[in-house]
Amino acid sequence: MSAPSVDRGQWSGKLGFILAAAGSAIGLGNIWRFPYTAGENGGGAFVLIYLGFVALIGVPVLLAELAIGRKTQRNPVGAFKALTESKFWPMVGGLGVLTGFGILAFYSVVAGWTLGYLYMSLTGGLAGVTEAGASAAVFTNLVTDPVWAIVLAGAFLLLTILVVRGGISGGIERATKILMPLLFVIMLILVIRAMTLPGAGAGISYLFKPDFSKITTTVVMSALGQALFSLSLGMGAMITYGSYLPEKENMPFAGVSVAFFDTLIAIMAGLIIFPALFATGGDPSGGPGLVFVVLPTIFNAMPAGNFFAVAFYALLAIAALTSTISLLEVVVSYFVDERGWRRDKAAWTIGGLCFLLAVPSALSQGAVAELGTGGLFSWDFLTLNNNIWGNYSLSLGAILISVFVGWKWGIPSALASLEASGDRLPAAGLWGFLIRYVCPVVILILLIFIVATGTYF
Ligand code: PFF
Repeated sequence: MSAPSVDRGQWSGKLGFILAAAGSAIGLGNIWRFPYTAGENGGGAFVLIYLGFVALIGVPVLLAELAIGRKTQRNPVGAFKALTESKFWPMVGGLGVLTGFGILAFYSVVAGWTLGYLYMSLTGGLAGVTEAGASAAVFTNLVTDPVWAIVLAGAFLLLTILVVRGGISGGIERATKILMPLLFVIMLILVIRAMTLPGAGAGISYLFKPDFSKITTTVVMSALGQALFSLSLGMGAMITYGSYLPEKENMPFAGVSVAFFDTLIAIMAGLIIFPALFATGGDPSGGPGLVFVVLPTIFNAMPAGNFFAVAFYALLAIAALTSTISLLEVVVSYFVDERGWRRDKAAWTIGGLCFLLAVPSALSQGAVAELGTGGLFSWDFLTLNNNIWGNYSLSLGAILISVFVGWKWGIPSALASLEASGDRLPAAGLWGFLIRYVCPVVILILLIFIVATGTYF
């Protein structure tokens, strides 16, 4: 395998990588998707299964992707091409590229809502929203307005295109070094506020006391999809990011740190939403609007609430942006490296096409009934895309990546890439076992079960 000819740039060091990869991993998945998915799937039991999947499937697959990336220093399609002669494996990279496109198309709609909330918190639109009913009305007004929903998604895609077209500059790495810790601090303050609200205890038990009678295949599948989605796995984003990590850096440590921070932020989001929700008498199965409906009421119930609202939505938008950048980057790097497109052309073309696919998702939350729940599909179009790309496609991708590393490329080669700096992967034998047997088999069984029982479609 020859080294890539162009100077692709590298992270400045381990911290730069951890923050950039954590920037991809930490996003709406943690703060928007995790709480409402937990809420729809019974709370504690879901959270427990989610944590199990992060440890047994998420971390092993994350390390597998990073190993492929660092060894090949390529985009997902190019990486598989570099490691095999076969025509099949690069198609797995291709599936990842397609999945990145599919996720970006609905993700940007929700990211657009964060811009809408940022705008409202800056212009006083959230003032006086002190109870759940009023807050739900504000959310409904925003997402059912066809013009707003489309413009906001378009604005978010535009921001993403502008960053990606210029290449991932030192600016992003430098910005995440400040913004990620800031997001953490603001969230910590909100956790303390939410957990000291009267009646918060019920929310904490909801999140941590598993009710095993709630476990169904849907719950298990959702927990798996959420673990993969949250860690940006199954579509090659971490192959791409791992490709920029210098050989001297301790990759096992960096990978595990990313998984740790990602999980921490998701749990913190749960510790904000559920205590606040139970304190104000809301419904945990509120769906995709959950976070947007719950938070304004707690902002309004705390000192300097508007300041925190502005800061929170700004940081949430930035957290979402560091994730959309990685989504678009996977697709753009494929067209640049493998098809010889100019980066500029690739970013605008793909971003523009993505906007077209984002429009039906933007209109599916009440603006156009046919695109809503029970219209053309049994789910609304945004949820449909969320499940197809964000659950099934990532799961399929994770199976194939595990099979590739475990059976085709081989554990010894992958380990050599992971341990290139000389730092050992603790429990390397266990990792090999998980990648060869546990990850592919467990994910496959679940996928087959879901298709066979028609639980989802
Ligand atoms: N991990 C991101 C989040 O939790 O918001 C979403 C995501 C980004 C998924 C990049 C997949 C990906 F490749």
